[in-house]
Amino acid sequence: MASSSLQMFLTCLLLLISIIHGQPSFRPSALVLPVRKDISTQQYVTAINQRTPLVPVNLVVHLGGQFLWVDCDNNYISSTYRPVRCRSAQCSLARSNSCGDCFDGPRPGCNNNTCGVSPDNPFIRTATGGELAQDAVSVRSTDGSNPGRFTSVPQFIFACAPTFLLQGLASGATGLAGLGRARIGLPSQFAAAFSFHRKFAICLTSSTSSNGVIIFGDGPYRFLQNTDASASLRYTPLFINPVSTASAFTQGDPSDEYFIRVNSIRINDKPISINTTLLIIDSEGNGGTKISTVNPYTLMETSIYRAFSAAYIREAAARNISRVAGVAPFDVCFSSSNVFGTRVGPAVPYIDLVLQGQNAVWTITGSNSMVRVNDDVLCLGFLDAGSNPVTSIVIGGYQIEDNLLQFDLAASRLGFSSTLLGRQTTCANFNFTTNP
Ligand SMILES: *[C@@H]1O[C@H](CO)[C@@H](O)[C@H](O)[C@H]1NC(C)=O
Ligand SMILES: *[C@@H]1O[C@H](CO)[C@@H](O)[C@H](O)[C@H]1NC(C)=O
Ligand SMILES: *[C@@H]1O[C@H](CO)[C@@H](O)[C@H](O)[C@H]1NC(C)=O
Ligand SMILES: *[C@@H]1O[C@H](CO)[C@@H](O)[C@H](O)[C@H]1NC(C)=O
Repeated sequence: MASSSLQMFLTCLLLLISIIHGQPSFRPSALVLPVRKDISTQQYVTAINQRTPLVPVNLVVHLGGQFLWVDCDNNYISSTYRPVRCRSAQCSLARSNSCGDCFDGPRPGCNNNTCGVSPDNPFIRTATGGELAQDAVSVRSTDGSNPGRFTSVPQFIFACAPTFLLQGLASGATGLAGLGRARIGLPSQFAAAFSFHRKFAICLTSSTSSNGVIIFGDGPYRFLQNTDASASLRYTPLFINPVSTASAFTQGDPSDEYFIRVNSIRINDKPISINTTLLIIDSEGNGGTKISTVNPYTLMETSIYRAFSAAYIREAAARNISRVAGVAPFDVCFSSSNVFGTRVGPAVPYIDLVLQGQNAVWTITGSNSMVRVNDDVLCLGFLDAGSNPVTSIVIGGYQIEDNLLQFDLAASRLGFSSTLLGRQTTCANFNFTTNP
């Protein structure tokens, strides 16, 4: 009794202090964003409230993107927009030493004496010059189970881009949410604003009717029926590629994308033979494996792809799964007639990515390897990247759907769950009913 009235007193006191200061009285331990899959582009799209007054802004998710950028040329109205000055602390946080003037302003995206950066659209591999700026952003907090109240960052750093940079983005999107490791990436800025760990998790959905989530901050990450997906994570180190993989960059910039080390690949427990040199990032930034939301399907360098698909066809044949003609963009397709369904997708050979670290085996079941192209045909959702790609393996969107991935920037490690379907939940099962 005594302790609960003390609690009541403290709550009132906090409320009073917050009224006096006009500031929210709580520090969220995590934030949540909904993410939907856009059918026609297969991109993942989220929404953030920005500006004063706040408006919802639809943004395509780029896991390895450097920062948030939005179209400032069209309808950007805000009383709290501030350009970032040349040689300011924010400008060096953005690793920029470029300084720009603009002659048909002033307006958002066009001011004198501003810090210049290069917003990048990886879908059309185009980057352009843009003004670095700050404005208010508001997102929902979460306890890991439901969304809570909105909380805001008054001076969130982002870049302005011209309207043409929206080309190739999902309809309705007016920018890109960069979740990369850069200091002005969304994960680092939210962590700094609310003093939580530099960690975030993504759980993308295959559903086109329900949302998946991005959660900034630590777990739990609960999905109905009350499964804490953070409990089933295995871990592998994240690697830094010393050479930027962005469309435009300054010499000496490292990549902001997330690289892991695949040591071998097994199909039905049998290792396939791969040139291991390709699995390591060399000093010029070539080779290695990254995870990307830009590519809808996993890409593999030609020699890896050939060994992988040949082994897969062999293992499928051993199960009487017969190959049929390819259906673009896929080369390797099968008749679905001998393939029954299971909780973890079509019953097909499993693929194991054997990653660096103990027990770091990422198992890819039929749910993430097979793409149903029609009633009778299933295709292997992996593509040939050609013989000289910069990165040897790019793990694409289809392979990470309904998997929880947690990126821990401070500890430089990736937590991965393999498919959540085996745990009787999915990424579309976050309970979006708001807790008051
Ligand atoms: C920038 O400075 C130039 C030259 O001083 C001036 O003509 C121009 O109007 C200024 N632009 C803005 C946006 O203030
Ligand atoms: C393995 O890949 C590296 C990098 O592309 C190449 O230089 C080397 O010749 C390859 N080795 C074999 C045995 O094919
Ligand atoms: C595959 O089909 C053959 C011939 O119909 C049959 O003898 C064999 O048992 C089947 N194998 C499997 C793994 O189903
Ligand atoms: C979702 O969350 C709301 C609010 O906490 C709760 O009332 C509801 O029971 C939850 N739904 C399920 C299916 O658990």
